Amino acid sequence: MIKDIDHILIARGAISDRVRSLGEEITKDLKDVGEHEIALVAVMTGSLIFVADLMRHLPMKIQIQLMTSSSYIGKSTKSNNDPMLGKLPDVKGMHVLLVDDILDSGRTLTKIRSELEALQPKSIQSCVLLRKKLDSAMNVPCEYAGFDIEDEFVVGYGLDYDGYYRNLPDIAVICP
Ligand code: IMP
Ligand code: MG
Repeated sequence: MIKDIDHILIARGAISDRVRSLGEEITKDLKDVGEHEIALVAVMTGSLIFVADLMRHLPMKIQIQLMTSSSYIGKSTKSNNDPMLGKLPDVKGMHVLLVDDILDSGRTLTKIRSELEALQPKSIQSCVLLRKKLDSAMNVPCEYAGFDIEDEFVVGYGLDYDGYYRNLPDIAVICP
């Protein structure tokens, strides 16, 4: 249907199975944390679909907070040096589960984690759907990663190129 898609990398069924298992793993790990203490912080816009699916596999009482980050200027597949962050959520005294779509250069997650640390949460753990097999990504602390993928630019399931393709149900590689 969309001409510029080269091939599907991860099909919707595999995504949904993995999101469920991530949710089960996180639920088990957080079972001893008290009510009112967990804040899921989702990084917009890329984690839009991932977080909506993931949170429905987290049956405990959690607060959902959104924040924004943008790393790209115009039509580019290379993120710029310093991601621009929007208003930070209030996470003081909370156990934070930080959710993003993909770990690439690692700059986004590193910057957000350090800014959230300054707000005195009880703990911070990160969860991404995708992680590129790059030293930059692998060396960033990240407790939960859905899929480790090759260094290719991917779109779909929330991830975009120049604002497009977020609505694709599968994760795909666009034509070079
Ligand atoms: P990082 O700061 O380089 O780790 O990149 C993180 C942000 O860049 C992610 O939150 C994504 O929004 C975006 N990004 C990185 N790689 C891709 C990709 O392959 N496709 C779409 N967006 C990407
Ligand atoms: Mg993003």
